[in-house]
Amino acid sequence: MNEHANPQSLSARADELEEEMMHTLGQCIATKSVLFNMGDGKVKMDSGPALKAANPDKYFLMGADPRLPKMPDKPTLIDFFHNRFASLNHLLQSATHALKGGHSEKVVLACLLHDIGVTGFIRCDHGYWGAQMIEPYVDEEISWAVRAHQALRFFPDPSVGYEYPEMYVKYFGADYKPEPYIVAEYERAKNHKYYMTSRMITVNDIYSFDPDAKPVLDDFVDIIGRNFKQPKEGLGFDNSPSAHMWRTLMWPTRFL
Ligand SMILES: [Fe+2]
Ligand SMILES: [Fe+2]
Repeated sequence: MNEHANPQSLSARADELEEEMMHTLGQCIATKSVLFNMGDGKVKMDSGPALKAANPDKYFLMGADPRLPKMPDKPTLIDFFHNRFASLNHLLQSATHALKGGHSEKVVLACLLHDIGVTGFIRCDHGYWGAQMIEPYVDEEISWAVRAHQALRFFPDPSVGYEYPEMYVKYFGADYKPEPYIVAEYERAKNHKYYMTSRMITVNDIYSFDPDAKPVLDDFVDIIGRNFKQPKEGLGFDNSPSAHMWRTLMWPTRFL
């Protein structure tokens, strides 16, 4: 565009470009779900009829979003790690710490998966979401532990040297008190047969133990293979109770 022929302010043009990028991808229109907009502090949704009227020769996106890394037809957990999880380092560090500590493969896998709710999906109630995603594919001890770690993180256990995280004081303030449902979850969890598995997630829930260590997912491929029942149809296509969650991660901007 010739800027002199069309004297438009830079910021207005930037807004317009962003609008274009947000909504039109070649022949497709991508929309943002209400949840994504709430992340910007707005309870709103794109109007289907208005967007269609503004783009009469385009169709709404009903499949893969070309802006995101391409997923294979039959995606595995490892494909999601590489293409949909925003950060691997914390999960790899935690799992490596558990492995070096001589823990069982269940504990190591629980550590590797404990925050996939955060890294791939949503922060709020990440333990619950993460557990739900993996529940059909792992031993119940692992998914139980992932769910409960969210609550256990807030409560010390001197028997294994776990203290309330200093980081939480920095993040949430010294006066922060967990919600009653988290307290109730902790009360239920502490007498459960899998309590210590979940507690081990919290013990290994670290952000760095060796600044020079560069753990890689390859170190855990065998443990995943032995302990995560990868569906042959691909995650998202096996009609499990959480298949829709994996599909949503794969296609987060599908119109319906
Ligand atoms: Fe967590
Ligand atoms: Fe964590």
